[in-house]
Amino acid sequence: MGGDRSAWGTASQKGARPGRALAGGLLLFGLTLLLAACVPNAPQDALEPVGEAARKADDLFQPVFLIAVGVFVLVEGALVYAIVRFRQRSDQDAPVQVHGNTKIEVIWTLIPAAILAGIAIPTVKGIFEFARPPTGDAIQVKVSAQQWWWEYSYEGFNVVTANELHIPTGRPVLLTLTAPPNDVIHSYWVPKLSGKQDVIPGQESQITLKTDRPGTYLGQCAEYCGTSHVNMRLRVIAQDPADFDAWVKAQQAKPPEPSGGLAARGKELFEKGRSDGKFPGGQACSGCHVIDPTLGGNYGPNLAHFASRGTFAGSVYDNTEENLTRWLRDPQEAKAGARMPDLKLTNEEIRALVAYLMTLR
Ligand code: CUA
Repeated sequence: MGGDRSAWGTASQKGARPGRALAGGLLLFGLTLLLAACVPNAPQDALEPVGEAARKADDLFQPVFLIAVGVFVLVEGALVYAIVRFRQRSDQDAPVQVHGNTKIEVIWTLIPAAILAGIAIPTVKGIFEFARPPTGDAIQVKVSAQQWWWEYSYEGFNVVTANELHIPTGRPVLLTLTAPPNDVIHSYWVPKLSGKQDVIPGQESQITLKTDRPGTYLGQCAEYCGTSHVNMRLRVIAQDPADFDAWVKAQQAKPPEPSGGLAARGKELFEKGRSDGKFPGGQACSGCHVIDPTLGGNYGPNLAHFASRGTFAGSVYDNTEENLTRWLRDPQEAKAGARMPDLKLTNEEIRALVAYLMTLR
């Protein structure tokens, strides 16, 4: 741009050089985005796979990414070279006019075709591999996606729970996912364990989770599904087989009866509502939630062994008395659009319900 007298050049020589300021701003913005990706411990980083399926996907992603970097450097390099090398040097400077070059065209058709074919073979193979149900001693879990939480129903174990999926290490877990008919589409995603799987209302889709490393793996609904889509989280807790068996046993047991006092009052409220009738605008908690660990398909999450869970409300809140109090006081404020109604509970009622829920170990 140096010595020319274009409007742009004149404008930038006055005042504060808007072009340079814009470029600087864009650079800063890009750097911020780049640095935002640098988290030492990212719980939902698909590039640090721990599950079998996630590792396979990553094994495919790495070479494809390297090839893409190579293509980018070559193409951009050639572009920058051509811009500099063949720039206009004077008004009489016109490029040599050519038309077609069979040799070059054959080369730049064949190379990308070979790259694409090379990527397609493992990709297609992978798609079929991911779709194949696991053989052997797979654990089967039915997953029902609700607005905005997840229900898990373990087949063969008679255990129903919500949001937190327990799996044993070293053993495949086949999830069969669905959502109620006429509801919305969700997507089940635990980045460190597996790829995403869409959950279609009234249809079934499947995904297999398998990992050898115990740990808690965070996930998230990955398909926009309404107001609290962002609050539709989940976690997968992978345990040694012995710990997993102990968890299953504990879940199968009937939750303990409260021995009296505040918790007993909470149980009464939970089951029957107020003595002078129901809660305003509806029924007792038991109209939507059950405490029987074997029952699924309810309007609200199954709350048997609620206190054994680390989180609640779509895994958005840590399961503490303080958070539970906040939730019962105003569910809509705690989680926008939640279907849990505001029961206009008194402080005494909230204390009793929290005390009862905390006994459900
Ligand atoms: Cu469910 Cu987004």
